[in-house]
Amino acid sequence: MSIFSVDDARCNRCGICVLECPARIIEMRGAEALPSWVETGEELCINCGHCVTVCPLRAVNLETMKAEDCAPIKKELLPTAEQVEHFLKSRRSIRAYKEKPVPREVLAKLIDIARYAPSGTNSQPVQWLVIEDQTEVNRLAGLVVDSMRSAIKAAPDIAAALHFDLMVSAWDLGIDVILREAPHVIVAHAHKDLPLADQNCYIALTYLELAAYSLGLGACWAGWLQMVMTSYPPMIEALQLPEGHVSMGAMMIGYPKYRYSSIPLREEPAIIWR
Ligand SMILES: Cc1cc2nc3c(=O)[nH]c(=O)nc-3n(C[C@H](O)[C@H](O)[C@H](O)COP(=O)(O)O)c2cc1C
Repeated sequence: MSIFSVDDARCNRCGICVLECPARIIEMRGAEALPSWVETGEELCINCGHCVTVCPLRAVNLETMKAEDCAPIKKELLPTAEQVEHFLKSRRSIRAYKEKPVPREVLAKLIDIARYAPSGTNSQPVQWLVIEDQTEVNRLAGLVVDSMRSAIKAAPDIAAALHFDLMVSAWDLGIDVILREAPHVIVAHAHKDLPLADQNCYIALTYLELAAYSLGLGACWAGWLQMVMTSYPPMIEALQLPEGHVSMGAMMIGYPKYRYSSIPLREEPAIIWR
């Protein structure tokens, strides 16, 4: 049974669903015919919902996605281009956090927004590990430092180039430059065999970082944690991800202690125009 259906009474045969389907599996056999799936429809559908949500008459349904369940886009809620530019340019990596924890429902809201990030063939492979407990965040930072201590002995040239000695010394003085005493860390992970899993995780984390800024939170990519998440056995053990899953990126999250008042300068873009 086809999971694609069109409401005959509503459909005006405009054909937009045919043209917008990324898999090209919708056809209209004649000007008066209702849109329908080609034979391979069920196999090739990526369940992106474009056919359902592009239809101005809400005539298209998938068994997995009913038109009535898809929230309407409210034009009045869309920011202007100027607002988007200002928002994107004014976002900063936040490394000083208030001691106040972020409520679970707010962290869940970030993840809820991040699941709307694009993913290859709409595979939505990104899963999340939320380290809510700051003691655990601190333990993970300590493990990163342990890995740096090992690297200083095992690979001194690389360790020197990356200034591991400075970070270890800071840690020994009680200063955490690894996870910045963030109250929370959110890790994106996915099954290791999924295509483009790492890119999908980076994009989802980027959405999460922007969502955090929009909600008055501060976020910062946890690059030092990321560097050892898949290679340092004590860290792999500490993360306890589901079988076959690999961490693909992490973000520190908390309430920012300070607010930025202006936008720093950035390099001019290097562009090749053809
Ligand atoms: C992949 C990646 C890893 C990063 N890792 C860290 C990190 O481990 N610690 C940190 O303090 N900042 C980290 N950052 C933040 C960058 O230093 C920051 O984006 C850059 O200095 C520009 O500042 P802005 O984000 O405020 O524009 C990372 C950023 C990216 C994109």
